[in-house]
Amino acid sequence: MEVRTRPALRFMGLLLTLSMLTAAGVSWAAGDAAPKDAYRRPDGILSPSSNPLTVEKATLGKTLFFDARLSRDGKMSCASCHAPDKRWSDGRLRPLGAENIVNARRTPTVLNSAWLTALMWDGRASSLEAQAVLPITTPHEMNFDMPGVIARLQPIQGYRPLFAQAFGDADVNQKRITQALASFQRTLVSNISPFDRWVAGDETAISASAKRGFTLFENKAKCVACHKSWRFTDDSFHDIGLRSEDIGRGAKVPPQVTLMQHAFKTPSLRDLPINGPYMHDGSMFSLEEVIKHYEKGGIERKSRSLEMKPFEISDEERLALVEFIKTLDGGPLKVDYPWMPE
Ligand code: HEC
Ligand code: HEC
Repeated sequence: MEVRTRPALRFMGLLLTLSMLTAAGVSWAAGDAAPKDAYRRPDGILSPSSNPLTVEKATLGKTLFFDARLSRDGKMSCASCHAPDKRWSDGRLRPLGAENIVNARRTPTVLNSAWLTALMWDGRASSLEAQAVLPITTPHEMNFDMPGVIARLQPIQGYRPLFAQAFGDADVNQKRITQALASFQRTLVSNISPFDRWVAGDETAISASAKRGFTLFENKAKCVACHKSWRFTDDSFHDIGLRSEDIGRGAKVPPQVTLMQHAFKTPSLRDLPINGPYMHDGSMFSLEEVIKHYEKGGIERKSRSLEMKPFEISDEERLALVEFIKTLDGGPLKVDYPWMPE
């Protein structure tokens, strides 16, 4: 089979687009005062100095991301659960294989993961490189081990040029696999949304109702207390009073840290699936339902965030808030599926 060593022109395009934006001097409404300024998109993609982003590493990583041979039975790839047509999640209440697991957590998106400072719902991984080993080795996920993956990939001829272009020679090892997977995921950045165009100065980009929704988001409803910045997250953990038994971050910190019991990472609000499921336990299916939860404030318990302050809004205001959140949707990324090396 022909091996396309550069199946990734698409995200080359993406990298270029982001840098071209700056090069072309696309500026955001000059003198635009805060608060809109706080939501400005970054001009480039972040990557750590220990693993600088290159097109070659991302190309290899893309192939690995879609390759089911990274799972023991050869049936599950990262994309089985982080699917491009499901906003890089799976649209499921519980992930594949987790049907019988108590407190199984919903699959989060890997969009904009270049900016994550704590990964997983409870923050138990600190980098994309470190995270990549977890799904490969988790029994109900890909159920494999790293030596097994390496032994399987090393003899695949088609991978040789991909590893060589990314790392200088064709050797397959754990560091290279995780660096490549991380690099590919860093190229998955939300498209420019109507909200971004509005922030950049185009007053016609979003409706009057969505603008009212944004004002509610920042003021009366105080969503911005936790959903901040261009990704709409504070990268922190909160108990928002859901009924779930799962203590989330609480299992990672001493029990005296009251506010972390039942706390989960604040998810981004960009590119949300239209009908959910939302939340770590997939317990909500519409944005109206989510907002009504915040209006009441959820279950009262010691760990509940102090920012969970009940409020009252009209039906019309709730719809405006929903309309605003929908302006954060830039639509699906265009992806060419990679050839699988033989
Ligand atoms: C069986 C489904 C499944 C597969 C396969 C899978 N994931 Fe995930 N992924 C999940 C779930 C579920 C979580 C959240 C787990 C948690 O927080 O406890 C997650 C979390 C993540 C996160 C953290 C996102 C965040 O917001 O913190 C990243 C990154 C990620 N996965 C990448 C990968 C990569 C890379 C692969 C392939 C090597 C992969 N996943 C394979 C289901 C899956
Ligand atoms: C106290 C901090 C906090 C406040 C205030 C807050 N959120 Fe959240 N939000 C979170 C956290 C944490 C989660 C994930 C909770 C979980 O799954 O246990 C979340 C989840 C969500 C989700 C689901 C996203 C997904 O991918 O599942 C939406 C939508 C959302 N919030 C919208 C809002 C809106 C709208 C407001 C204002 C009315 C708001 N939030 C106020 C912290 C907050």
